[in-house]
Amino acid sequence: MAFTLHLGTPVNTALFLFILYSVQRIVFPSVPPKPKTAQDLPREFKSGYSWLPKAHPPTVLFKTYTPHTLEPFNGKDGGRILLAIKGIVFDVTAGRNFYGPNGMYGNFAGRDASRGMAKQSFDVEMLTPVDQPLDKLNDLQQDEIENMRGWIDHFSNKYIICGKLVESGSAM
Ligand code: HEM
Repeated sequence: MAFTLHLGTPVNTALFLFILYSVQRIVFPSVPPKPKTAQDLPREFKSGYSWLPKAHPPTVLFKTYTPHTLEPFNGKDGGRILLAIKGIVFDVTAGRNFYGPNGMYGNFAGRDASRGMAKQSFDVEMLTPVDQPLDKLNDLQQDEIENMRGWIDHFSNKYIICGKLVESGSAM
């Protein structure tokens, strides 16, 4: 059975033109003009795909901290919150509810939390004063070491590792 399109009727004419237009769009897709200078680059999202973000997302620099330089990152000023476990410094700012000044684990903010994590205690006695040498953790029992490793796993999966904690005076 032969199919003939009668362009005589307005509906068929409109349909035919629409099909022609659609085919033309597929064969010759519209390409946005290439920016000639840096000023022509899009600076903000207007509509559709905008490939240049307005600002560079914040970057985190891996740094070496000492107990002294880590301490200011306790979140009391509303800023970043860092804590260390076994020499690994985590950025726990996203967990402000836990580590902020009113958080249940606020004691750990800006500090070496290794012993507290190992012994499952957030008592202040778990923290080594910042002007003393780093806690060597030599007295920990096997199950406490396992605890601490468990927390390192938890933190590694949840937060960004942003530095290492070293003895005061040995940071480069
Ligand atoms: C009274 C006993 C305790 C209660 C009721 C409690 C409760 C909680 C709750 C509800 C969470 C959140 C879990 C989640 O949303 O994933 C949590 C997380 C946590 N708890 Fe406890 N906790 C207790 C004792 C401790 C102790 C003694 C420590 C000491 C090391 C501790 C350290 C932590 C840490 C480090 C987190 C993870 C926070 C994070 O993901 O950043 N908790 N706890």
